[in-house]
Amino acid sequence: MEVFVFLFILGLISSSRVSCKSFNVIDYGAKGDGMTDDSQAFLNAWKDACSSTPVHKSPQVIIPAGSTFLVKPVQFNGPCKSQHIHFIVSGTVVAPGSPPGWNGLDTSQWLSFNGVYGLIVNGGGVIDGQGKKWWDQSCRDHPNMEGCTDLAPTAMKFMFCINTTLSNIHFVSSPQAHVQLFVCNGFNINNLTVQSPGDSPNTDGVHIHASKHVVITHSKISCGDDCISIGDFTNDVEINNVQCGPGHGISVGSLGKSGNFVQVENIHISNSTFYGTTNGARIKTWQTGRGYARNITFENLQVFSVDNPIIIDQNYCSYPGTCKEQGTGVQISDVVFQRINGTATTEAAISLNCSKAVPCLGIKLDSIDITPQIPSVPVAACCSNAHGEETSVEPGPCLKQD
Ligand SMILES: *[C@@H]1O[C@H](CO)[C@@H](O)[C@H](O)[C@H]1NC(C)=O
Ligand SMILES: *[C@@H]1O[C@H](CO)[C@@H](O)[C@H](O)[C@H]1NC(C)=O
Ligand SMILES: *[C@@H]1O[C@H](CO)[C@@H](O)[C@H](O)[C@H]1NC(C)=O
Ligand SMILES: *[C@@H]1O[C@H](CO)[C@@H](O)[C@H](O)[C@H]1NC(C)=O
Ligand SMILES: *[C@@H]1O[C@H](CO)[C@@H](O)[C@H](O)[C@H]1NC(C)=O
Ligand SMILES: *[C@@H]1O[C@H](CO)[C@@H](O)[C@H](O)[C@H]1NC(C)=O
Repeated sequence: MEVFVFLFILGLISSSRVSCKSFNVIDYGAKGDGMTDDSQAFLNAWKDACSSTPVHKSPQVIIPAGSTFLVKPVQFNGPCKSQHIHFIVSGTVVAPGSPPGWNGLDTSQWLSFNGVYGLIVNGGGVIDGQGKKWWDQSCRDHPNMEGCTDLAPTAMKFMFCINTTLSNIHFVSSPQAHVQLFVCNGFNINNLTVQSPGDSPNTDGVHIHASKHVVITHSKISCGDDCISIGDFTNDVEINNVQCGPGHGISVGSLGKSGNFVQVENIHISNSTFYGTTNGARIKTWQTGRGYARNITFENLQVFSVDNPIIIDQNYCSYPGTCKEQGTGVQISDVVFQRINGTATTEAAISLNCSKAVPCLGIKLDSIDITPQIPSVPVAACCSNAHGEETSVEPGPCLKQD
């Protein structure tokens, strides 16, 4: 008897959720056979969900489990009528297998959302960028190849967005960055996995540009570039419980390329681990940049077999050593590195290379213990033009005490 009452109540609850309407790509003609181009079905489902009236408070675009959808470069545009639009990827979405799939289209992106408010992307599915053919023709790896490309598509790009959530999605093999934020305000990422080979060119996990109020938690990122990178004009980023590796670490930068007036502040990175990455906690700026990067904290990090666990490079350069010393730079200040332990594979366990023109100020190193991964390669701390305080730092000392 009680069971029936329970089921009855459950029925009431679910039928009262009339505010939710589904737009399944299958109903829009998607085949989901991995070969037919399902782009138009995706765009049509989006168009209807986006224009569905606020009666359906949370329209849902559904990409069902158990099928593989081939989708060419598409852009899902807002603004939508609803302030909560769900994009539920439960199946697998694959990109065209080679660059000709982008003929005549914008090669900087694959799946993008533009100007959407209150978007939620989740569903437990897979976004497969099929990047191999792009990597094989990258100018970085094949500088002498005729027709090599520097620019390749970002798997999922969010542009001009407000209050977005991206969770429970598995990204693999993007041609270039896996996820990119561009001018977003309020962005929550959690339980994301990214998987690309450590030698795949420029395949950042998540790149944040000109955005604010961003949170990234409980994610596992393996890629060929920065697991997470934070670009110019970014404010208030919280990153915790991220596992990075292989990859280039978690980077603030590179900042100030082409002379930008950088404004980056209030960045907190904690409780994360790095396995076999080239860098751990990194800040890199171009000498041509101006402006500031300040109030940045890296804490409670563990590094395992990392080349350069703690690094500030204010002389960042495409080809190290080829950029001439300049009288400009991005002012780096109030940076904390604390409770960081583990092993390094090179001598440069701590390397704070700041510029003569604009020295780093207010650096704090505290409770750091990095030991050699390879017994014959000792670890060291090397600082230039870096001012601040340090306590309990091994290897050390390093900073100029003021
Ligand atoms: C975004 O969400 C936050 C918290 O949920 C809310 O306080 C804020 O007003 C929202 N932003 C906009 C622009 O609606
Ligand atoms: C994380 O996402 C995966 C799918 O990518 C899902 O299977 C898993 O249940 C999610 N975990 C949590 C805690 O939500
Ligand atoms: C520094 O940034 C943190 C967030 O990472 C913020 O809570 C704090 O208020 C900021 N401190 C200052 C002095 O702005
Ligand atoms: C980070 O770890 C510390 C120590 O284990 C814990 O007290 C803190 O709550 C954690 N913070 C986050 C955001 O996970
Ligand atoms: C610091 O950067 C300059 C300019 O790129 C370079 O010449 C120098 O070797 C670097 N120092 C260290 C210790 O890496
Ligand atoms: C490194 O830090 C972690 C967590 O902060 C801690 O559990 C571990 O014992 C530390 N290891 C060493 C060798 O200090």
